[in-house]
Amino acid sequence: MKIAVLISGSGSNLQALLDSSVRENIQLVVSNKASAFGLERARKAGVPTHSMLKANYSSRDIYDQAVADYLNQQAIDLVVLAGWMHILGARFLDVFQGQTINLHPALPGQYPGTHAIKRAFEDGVDRTGCMVHRVTLEVDVGEVLGVSEVEIKPTDTLAELEERMHSAEHRLLVSVVEGMVKGVQALS
Ligand code: GAR
Repeated sequence: MKIAVLISGSGSNLQALLDSSVRENIQLVVSNKASAFGLERARKAGVPTHSMLKANYSSRDIYDQAVADYLNQQAIDLVVLAGWMHILGARFLDVFQGQTINLHPALPGQYPGTHAIKRAFEDGVDRTGCMVHRVTLEVDVGEVLGVSEVEIKPTDTLAELEERMHSAEHRLLVSVVEGMVKGVQALS
């Protein structure tokens, strides 16, 4: 199974994948930000990188098509959105629907979109979580492949909650992707 990981920033979740058994399946890391630190992590691990900046394309549709075309050219089987902060629309999903999964730092049905950790923290709830789901046209909605609950302690600062969330995300993402890789291997 050939995997592409799409990132926009730090890439700590990418690092968790690079440190796991699925490293050998990761063919490519794509970023929509040239300055994303995750690109450094990929280079250090010897994984090819590619930056695709939306500003270089005349419309959202044309950008989404270009990302799909690029991944298709590389014969990618599974696209993992790991902190990729661009909503991929129909032109992308027409090609990769069912083969694209997203990590989101909230429980299913809660806090879709950006700043999900901060929004849960500010709501004063005592638990939140993270999920991996298949990507659909609706943002942060789609078949849930894995969930991990994260406690919010009364004494937590936002930074402490973020750290606990990221640890949970790293474990969850690796376990879901490893499971998908092993599932495909078992079929072949
Ligand atoms: C992660 O918390 C991920 O869940 C979130 O961006 C962060 C990326 O961290 N993604 C979303 O909010 C998508 N809706 P990383 O760059 O260190 O992996």
